[in-house]
Amino acid sequence: MGRLDDKVCVITGAARGQGEAEARLFGAEGGTVWLTDVLDAEGEAVAGEMGGTYRSLDVRDEAAWSSIIDEVVATHGRIDVLVNNAGIYTHGRHFEIDVDDFNRVMDINCTGVFLGMRAVSPHMRDAGSGSIVNISSVAGMQGGVNAFAYFTSKWAVRGMTKAAAVENGRRNVRVNSIHPGLIDTEMLNNAVLDGQDSERTVNQFVPMGRTASALEVANMALFLASDDASYCTGCEFVVDGGMTAL
Ligand SMILES: NC(=O)c1ccc[n+]([C@@H]2O[C@H](COP(=O)([O-])OP(=O)(O)OC[C@H]3O[C@@H](n4cnc5c(N)ncnc54)[C@H](O)[C@@H]3O)[C@@H](O)[C@H]2O)c1
Repeated sequence: MGRLDDKVCVITGAARGQGEAEARLFGAEGGTVWLTDVLDAEGEAVAGEMGGTYRSLDVRDEAAWSSIIDEVVATHGRIDVLVNNAGIYTHGRHFEIDVDDFNRVMDINCTGVFLGMRAVSPHMRDAGSGSIVNISSVAGMQGGVNAFAYFTSKWAVRGMTKAAAVENGRRNVRVNSIHPGLIDTEMLNNAVLDGQDSERTVNQFVPMGRTASALEVANMALFLASDDASYCTGCEFVVDGGMTAL
């Protein structure tokens, strides 16, 4: 018996990295998984391998959100889980970042999460159950240098999570945030570290002395998506090898 048997799940940014790991794990645990992303070839390939359904979705696109969630509900009669995982990272300090760059990060990392929650919450509220998992970051728990828009966006995800959790509480729709540390994906290796010495960064900032695999975050997402987390809502779940303990 799987931990997500009979659950219909939608995951954003599922073509690679953490979203891909979540899609594969949720499928292995019995979930019916709809993968979405803007990387269509990669997304189709992952869905084909793990038996899910792929749809192209730019999380900034309000009309596309409606049409995909309508299709999911028309197909299965329900939606049980949404993982708002899609995100981007950019460098730049507050006194030098372009407004356009700032807005792009906010549109994808924040408005995308809001649109996702708005699309699924009415269905979950009517059903009297559901779980929304928003991927924030340790950057949503502390400050940091040279990624002003990213830090801002991830604090906003943490705040939106709490506000939506309160609004959805009585309808048994749970909303939680996950705060990963340094996770071994394209984002970390190509954007966050961007030429920095990764070994030095890890040694300096991570008490456990290593990065995490995407699966180690997916395991937390699985817990929150499943009924095992039936009394958890409005909370932060940190997966960071001790980074925020420093
Ligand atoms: N990797 C890390 O160290 C780390 C740490 C903390 C939090 N996070 C967060 O985890 C989440 C997943 O990131 P990842 O590490 O797997 O990185 P990743 O870059 O491998 O994956 C991000 C995915 O989001 C998709 N995406 C980007 N813009 C999109 C858009 N407009 N619409 C739909 N999809 C879009 C990308 O195509 C990609 O598949 C992100 O929200 C990220 O901010 C990552």
